[in-house]
Amino acid sequence: MQLVDIVRKADETNELTVESRFIFILSKVMEASLKGSDSLRVDGFASFDIPEGDIMAKKIAVLVGSLRKESVNRKLALELQRLASDGLELEIVEIGNLQHYNQDFDANPPQEWVSFREKIKCSDGVLFVSPEYNRTIPGVLKNAIDVGSRPYGQGVWAGKPGGVMTSSPSGIGGAIANHHIRQALVFIDVPVMQQPEAYIADAFGIWNEDGTAVAETEKFLKSWIDAYESWVNKF
Ligand SMILES: Cc1cc2nc3c(=O)[nH]c(=O)nc-3n(C[C@H](O)[C@H](O)[C@H](O)COP(=O)(O)O)c2cc1C
Repeated sequence: MQLVDIVRKADETNELTVESRFIFILSKVMEASLKGSDSLRVDGFASFDIPEGDIMAKKIAVLVGSLRKESVNRKLALELQRLASDGLELEIVEIGNLQHYNQDFDANPPQEWVSFREKIKCSDGVLFVSPEYNRTIPGVLKNAIDVGSRPYGQGVWAGKPGGVMTSSPSGIGGAIANHHIRQALVFIDVPVMQQPEAYIADAFGIWNEDGTAVAETEKFLKSWIDAYESWVNKF
């Protein structure tokens, strides 16, 4: 008995879960595509309701380029986490404990590198929220990018849809670091959302007393994270 027959039989007895229905339809799509067919009709399965909450959220790893407790970039990352729709699940992946990248450790990597790489590998996308240090990428963030990129040929970044946000108390919002991060992402093959760009200026002046972003910034952050969700869903 083939998988499709098992699923069809289960459906007759009303035992099908939403997941099984997906598998069934997927098997039909594969069958149709193998036959070179460009249309698909699945009797009895053409439409069905997916109960709310059953759609899997995309897991997004967020790297914050500042280790400071009161970091405005961490606050921005937390705001993105709060404002993201149910379709995205943002998790800040800590990078402060990663030993400096050293090629000598490739054969026997520190446990922190291994778990960091695993977290990135399991994510559906990567967000970088960072300050600018001396007109470029903070070392701690560059180190994390390097750790995830090696051993050669086994990097964990390739193909993960990316987003870059920088912030600064100054007027240009870390724009130079933003583009330096993007430059590194080219080589590790992270397709980065191009628009909207995110350079958050006046980064100390955009907060309400309760720690949330002021209305205008909140509106921008919400539109940015929604645009990022659309970007992620293209992959
Ligand atoms: C080492 C260092 C270098 C900095 N260089 C820049 C810079 O090039 N451009 C800039 O806009 N701000 C620069 N700043 C100021 C940071 O934008 C500011 O400290 C910001 O609060 C850091 O982000 P955080 O709050 O997330 O830690 C620098 C700060 C430090 C500590």
